[in-house]
Amino acid sequence: MEILRIGVIGCGSIARYRHLPEYAANKHAEITAVCDISAERAEAMAAHYNAKAYTDYNELLADESIDAVSVCTPNYLHAPISIAALNAGKHVLCEKPMATSDEEAEAMIQAARNNNRKLMIGHNQRFVPSHRKARELIETGAVGKVYSFRTAFGHPGPEAWSADGSNSWFFRKEEAFIGAMGDLGVHKSDLIRYLLGEEIVEVAAFVENSSKPNSTVDDNAACILKSESGIIGTMAASWSYGREDNSTIIYAEKAVIRLEDHPEYGMIVQYTNGEVVKYELGRIQSNDEGGQNSSHVISSFLHSILTDSEVPVSGEEGRKSLGVILAALESTNTKQIVSLHAKELI
Ligand SMILES: NC(=O)c1ccc[n+]([C@@H]2O[C@H](COP(=O)([O-])OP(=O)(O)OC[C@H]3O[C@@H](n4cnc5c(N)ncnc54)[C@H](O)[C@@H]3O)[C@@H](O)[C@H]2O)c1
Repeated sequence: MEILRIGVIGCGSIARYRHLPEYAANKHAEITAVCDISAERAEAMAAHYNAKAYTDYNELLADESIDAVSVCTPNYLHAPISIAALNAGKHVLCEKPMATSDEEAEAMIQAARNNNRKLMIGHNQRFVPSHRKARELIETGAVGKVYSFRTAFGHPGPEAWSADGSNSWFFRKEEAFIGAMGDLGVHKSDLIRYLLGEEIVEVAAFVENSSKPNSTVDDNAACILKSESGIIGTMAASWSYGREDNSTIIYAEKAVIRLEDHPEYGMIVQYTNGEVVKYELGRIQSNDEGGQNSSHVISSFLHSILTDSEVPVSGEEGRKSLGVILAALESTNTKQIVSLHAKELI
C-alpha cells in the first residue's frame, strides 16, 4: 500500500481540528513534518503526531521525502507558500481563500502545471451531504428551472476560533487581505457556483466594517449575484451574527430547497404540489464541532494523488470562487455593478 508523506504548514486551528486529525486517520498518509512560526505550536503538534517540527517552511520544503503539503497559514501566505511547495515538487492542498488576487491565483495554477503536481483548494462546503444532494436535484432537473437563491454564512467572528484569539491575523488587512468575505463569503461563492453548475457573471455588493472596531478588514457584507443564465440571488457574509447561520435556499420552478436551515434536517425540499421531503443526512460541520466528522477534503486530496486523477476542487475552481469575492470588493469600492472579466471565467 502506498503511503504519502505529508507536511502541514501552519499549526493553528484549521490544521489542529481538520488537516492533522484527518491525515492521521487516513491509512494512506503519514504526517512527516509540521511547521509554524510559533515554535511552541509546531513542537506541540510534532510531539502529538510523531513528526518533525520546523519554524521555517522553506526548511520543511527542502525535505525531499515529503510528497504533499497542506497550507494552513494566514491568507497572504497561501500563494507564496503554495508556489514554493509546488516548485519543490510537492502536491498542495491550500486553504481558502486560495490567494489575495487573481494574479496570485493564476501563478499558483501555473506552478502546479509547470511542476505536474496537484493543487487543491479546501472548499469543504462542496462535500456537505445536503449540498451534494441539492446539486443532484438541480443537475438532474428534478426541481426544474432555478430562479433565485439566498445564501448566508455568518457568526460572531473568529475570536473564539483562531489560535491567536482576538489578537488574530484574521483582523489585520496586511495578513488577511479580506475579512468575513475571505473567511466565510468565499465558501458561499464557491457553493453557489457548485450548486448551480454555472458561473457568476455580475456582482453588486456592500462590504462594510461595522461590527469590529479594532479590525482593518470587512466584517459585514451583503451581495447580489447574477449567473450566466440569469439566476439572481443574495449572498451574505458576516462576523456580526449573534448565532451561526450557514444556510442556503434555492427557489426553483418545482420546489424550494432549504439547506442547513433546520436543526434536524440538513435539507428540506418543499415541492410546489404540496409535498415536503425532509432529509436527515450528515450535518454540516461548524467550528464548535471541531474535527469530529471527516470533511472529505483530505481524503479526496490523497485519493487524487494516489490515483493520479483530477482533484475535486481545482485551482481553477478556487480562482473563480475568489473572483466573485474580488468583484464584490470592487463593487463596494466603485459603487457599481461589476461584470466578471472573461479571463476569470476561462
Ligand atoms: N475550510 C475551512 O472551513 C476553514 C476554516 C477555518 C480557517 N480556514 C483557513 O485556514 C487558514 C488558517 O486559518 P486558521 O483558522 O487555522 O488560523 P489560526 O489563526 O488559528 O492559525 C494560523 C497559524 O498560522 C501560523 N503562521 C503564521 N505565519 C506562518 C508562517 N510564515 N509559517 C508557518 N505558520 C505560520 C500562525 O502562527 C498560526 O498558528 C486561513 O486561510 C483560513 O481562511 C479554513
